[in-house]
Amino acid sequence: MNVVESVADLRAQCDAARVAGRRVGFVPTMGYFHVGHRSLMERARAENGLVVVSLFVNPTQFGPGEDLSAYPRDLEADTRVAEAAGVDVLFVPSVDVMYPDGPPRTTVHVAGLTEGMCGAARPTHFDGVTTVVAKLFSMVGPCRAYFGRKDFQQVAVVRRMAIDLDLPVEVIGCPLVREPDGVARSSRNAYLTAPERAAAPGLHAALGAAADRIRAGERRAEAIRELVASVVEAPLELEYVEVRDATDLVSLDELAGSFVIAVAARLGRARLIDNIVMEVDGAAVEVDDGVIIDQDAAR
Ligand code: PAJ
Repeated sequence: MNVVESVADLRAQCDAARVAGRRVGFVPTMGYFHVGHRSLMERARAENGLVVVSLFVNPTQFGPGEDLSAYPRDLEADTRVAEAAGVDVLFVPSVDVMYPDGPPRTTVHVAGLTEGMCGAARPTHFDGVTTVVAKLFSMVGPCRAYFGRKDFQQVAVVRRMAIDLDLPVEVIGCPLVREPDGVARSSRNAYLTAPERAAAPGLHAALGAAADRIRAGERRAEAIRELVASVVEAPLELEYVEVRDATDLVSLDELAGSFVIAVAARLGRARLIDNIVMEVDGAAVEVDDGVIIDQDAAR
């Protein structure tokens, strides 16, 4: 695996692979890898000739007072995880490499899909994400880019950006990876104290209760939002529960077709997000609750 820090080195590796007829698969990350990240790398490895992973804690997607300076970092362990997953190029740019002229004056804004859900509490977040992802796509030139459905809104927003800007990249949404007790894996789980970690499964349990109610015949989105709000208890503080169409993220009144139930909650210093995707067709109900992977990647 090559660890590269400059855009020129990155482009040289990607150009050489393309000249040799290899497809470039790309996984953008902010590091502190867990098995969720690794699942994306392994999928990219299985489907592409060259696998590029970027590791960049992107300042522009953090709002004022958010956890930019506290965001966990461990380049040594991350390098081992990426190498073990078969990554070819680990791109680790500095802030100066990514933003040599300061914060970019050209930004990408995806309207509509960025409103509500995480966009409500984090109004500048998605512009930071889409702008850095657009820059990374331009540096790497991937055929395929892999994103986790843990960040369901992010996948929808990035896919919309790629469609609207005709970016020649397939945006692939991958399963949400959970710990054995149902907690969605996240770099930010490192912020949790032991008692907070013990309370964390309550968020996923609330989604399970919603799924059960829908299996039992409930089709009113409001009843599902109320149910989730009533079962999430302290120390979890629910920030939102939303029921949205799975593709265009339009808010639903009646449950039909494919939709996501998405939640965010504060837990101590951490802000946790989670979701389940369901499909309802008359009485038939399908649930995509992600996958449990029972192992630690690095730590
Ligand atoms: P980060 O939070 O490091 O996540 C990198 C990728 O890993 C994202 O696509 C995210 O959805 C995925 N991921 C994280 N936890 C996961 C889990 N439990 N199961 C499945 N996939 C998971 O998301 C970002 O970084 C940044 O916003 C980024 C896209 C890199 C732009 O800066």
